[in-house]
Parts: sequence; structure tokens; C-alpha cells
Amino acid sequence: MPHNIVFSEKALELQAKAREIAEKHVRPLAAKYDKAQEYNYEAARAVAEAGLFKVFVPEEYGGYGAGVLALAMVTEELAKADSGFGVAFAVNALGSFPIILGGTEEQKKRWLPSIANGDKFVAFCLSEKFAGSDAGGLSVTAELDGDEYVIRGEKKWTTNGGVADIYSVFCVTDPTSKSRRISAIEKGTPGFSVKKVEDKMGIRCVPVVETHFDNVRVPKDNLVGGRPGMGFKHAMMTLDCARPGVAAQAVGAAQGALDLAVVYSNRRRQFGKPISSFQMVQKMLADMAMRTEASRWLVYASAAAIDAGDKNVTKGAAMAKCFATDTAMEVATDAVQVFGGYGFMEDYPIAKCFRDAKILQIYEGTNQVQRMVIARNLIKEAEQLSHLEAYIPHEEQCSYEGDKVFTGQD
Ligand code: CAA
Repeated sequence: MPHNIVFSEKALELQAKAREIAEKHVRPLAAKYDKAQEYNYEAARAVAEAGLFKVFVPEEYGGYGAGVLALAMVTEELAKADSGFGVAFAVNALGSFPIILGGTEEQKKRWLPSIANGDKFVAFCLSEKFAGSDAGGLSVTAELDGDEYVIRGEKKWTTNGGVADIYSVFCVTDPTSKSRRISAIEKGTPGFSVKKVEDKMGIRCVPVVETHFDNVRVPKDNLVGGRPGMGFKHAMMTLDCARPGVAAQAVGAAQGALDLAVVYSNRRRQFGKPISSFQMVQKMLADMAMRTEASRWLVYASAAAIDAGDKNVTKGAAMAKCFATDTAMEVATDAVQVFGGYGFMEDYPIAKCFRDAKILQIYEGTNQVQRMVIARNLIKEAEQLSHLEAYIPHEEQCSYEGDKVFTGQD
């Protein structure tokens, strides 16, 4: 970053399709699926028929190879109508990135075309009960036994679990090393089960579950990448590519809440006038709009850097994720305020926006982890700024005796 942000024709076409599907199949059913905590298969089918799952899959494997920027644009549109459906869509990219970034040619050919067609959904199994932010502290093991790996243990918070057909599972193959391997597991493999479907505060239209692996035997060929020791790096690289996607979900969530708040503030009358005519409400709306727009461009810039093949995209992805998701929470909170007492009631759609926003600051790396990642990168990059040292006086140069002015040229 910074980068030229170019919206390809394909990206704009997919964005327009996503907007249409969002208004036709997502928004009208959002409250229903939220209440029922059920997956919106109707919208997922429409997304598949429109070819939107092809957006993140390379052309050689049946996709459009439209890139992370296009993925962000599509995700934003879907999330604007229902943030939960936004993640139901984007998590397929998260689960596919380990295969796209690290899979062998044979594995890409085996799995990606059916993902691109929307015939198969994907999940990403990294977190565990005792390993959330500390993604290196996994305990699920994969032990080689002949031509198969035997997987044992439990994963926590698997988004799309039960709905997904393919699971990218991060396992420990060498307990003495931090490196983890990834195995792809297909639904129906004996010993693999979904044990607990979580009862959540928000994003209720997409299941989040515990996945259990009770001596699950997977062919050695399912080891993503085929060679040991790359799992942790693949997880980190995957998150670098996926975080602009969750950030785009946040932009959609923020824009969706802002749009509802603006419409309501024009309609709601107090003291004989629409509340949108009051300066304090106007300030809230203006701040919400500025922060949402700033988030959007941060997301676009980080996605464009990934598409351009930048070497270090980690900081940009973390900044977009952190800023956009904090913004979504702030905007959703202020949107409820604009709705006043009605905003607190589930009769109104803004309460759901508020509930849905919270998880954005937690999953795909808490915003505390993002800030740590950003700071670590800033500190590393400071090496390139060493010429500035000359302009910063050392403490002893600012003592009383040193009454001559420090210029940096001395
Ligand atoms: N790309 C490539 N390699 C990377 C990398 C990156 N972005 N970040 C780290 N690595 C490499 C390092 O170079 C290092 O390699 P060596 O061992 O060869 O030196 C190795 O990985 C270990 O790196 P660190 O020492 O930095 O690891 P750490 O343990 O100190 O911290 C962390 C890493 C950033 C905290 C990481 O654990 C992390 O991102 N945690 C958050 C986990 C997370 O985001 N979970 C989300 C789950 S998915 C989800 O929520 C989705 C959903 O439900 C929808």
C-alpha cells in the first residue's frame, strides 16, 4: 500500500449481481433466518447460480480469478443486506484459501471446481477451546498411519460447520515444532461429526459449531500442499488474504446500519420536525458516513495490494480488518441511538445490525491481535526510516548547556 485501485469490468458486474441478489433473496429473509437460526439455502443457491462463488477461485480451476478486491466488493453487497449472510458467503473463501495458496495441482483440480460452482461449501477449522488468538497452540493431532493420517481432537467455532462439505483442518503432526499441517476433510468421513451448534448473539443465519475428530482417517493425499511443516505459515497467509473479506463484511454491515438510520431519521418526527433536522443527529450521521467511507477505501487498498502481488500484505490486511470492524461496531451502536427506544426492540431491523456487528471485532483475529500485528510490522519497517535518526536530537543534546539550536545538520 498505497496502490492503484482498479475496478475490473468483471468485478463491477459481480458487484451488481450481488446487489441484486442481496435485495431479492437476502434482505427480505434476514429476520426470518436470524430468528430461526437457520441457513439461508435459497440465497446461497442464488449466489451459486449467479456465479459469485467463482469470484475467488482462479480461472484454471473453474473460477473467474477476479481477485480479492472483487471478493470484497461482492461480500460488502451481501453483508449490507444481512451481515450474517455476508460471512456465510465469505467463509467459503477463507476455507478455500489454504488450498488456493498452498495446495498441490492435483488438490486444486480435485476440490476447487466444485467450490467455484457452489456445489460444495467450505469451512476453516483453526480455533480450538484453548487456542484462539494463540493459533500456534493447537492440540488437534494428525498421526501418520500407513497411507492415512488419523486425526484426533476437537475444533471450536467452525463457521459454516454442518453446512460445509469440505473442511480445511489445521492439525499438529510434529508436537516438537510450531509448524502445523492442514488436511482437507470431506463431510461423511467416518469419525467426523458436528457436536455442538452454538446459540449466538448475532450472525445467527450461519451455523458456528464444534467439529469433533474421533480417529478420522484421511488419505495422505489430503494433506494440503503434500509436504510437512507449512501449516502455520499457510494459516497466516490465508488470514492475510481473508481479512480484507471480513473487513468488507464490516463495511457492508456499517453501510447497512447507516442506510437504515438515515431513512428512519427522515421519517421519525419529534418536536414537530423530522429528527434528521437536528444538528446532533446530523453529526452522528455524518460521522457514521465518514468512518464507513474511510473503511471502504482501506479495504479496497489492502485488497488491491494483495491482487497486485505485494510481498508484505500483512499490515494492510490487519489495518483494514481492525479499522473497518471497529467502525461497524461504532456505526451500529450510533444507528441504534438514532432509532431511540424502537432501536432496542427486535421489531426493528437495527437491533440485529447491532448484534451482528460485535463478532466482527473478534473473529479472524481479535482487533487486539490486529493491532499487535500492525505494530510489529511498523517496528520492522522502521529500519527503512533510519535516515530520520539524524533529525531527532539525542536527549543529551537538549540539556541546558546545549543552548545552540539542534538542526539535524550538526
Ligand atoms: N505470513 C507468513 N508467515 C507468517 C505470517 C504471515 N502473515 N505471520 C507469521 N508468520 C510466520 C513467522 O514468520 C514465523 O515463522 P518462523 O517460525 O519461520 O520464524 C511463524 O509464522 C510464527 O510467527 P510468530 O512468531 O509471529 O507467531 P506468534 O505466535 O507470535 O503470533 C499471531 C502469531 C499473529 C498472534 C497469530 O497466532 C494470529 O494471527 N492469531 C490470530 C488467529 C486468528 O486470526 N484466528 C482466527 C480464526 S478464523 C475465524 O475466526 C474465522 C471465522 O470463524 C469466520
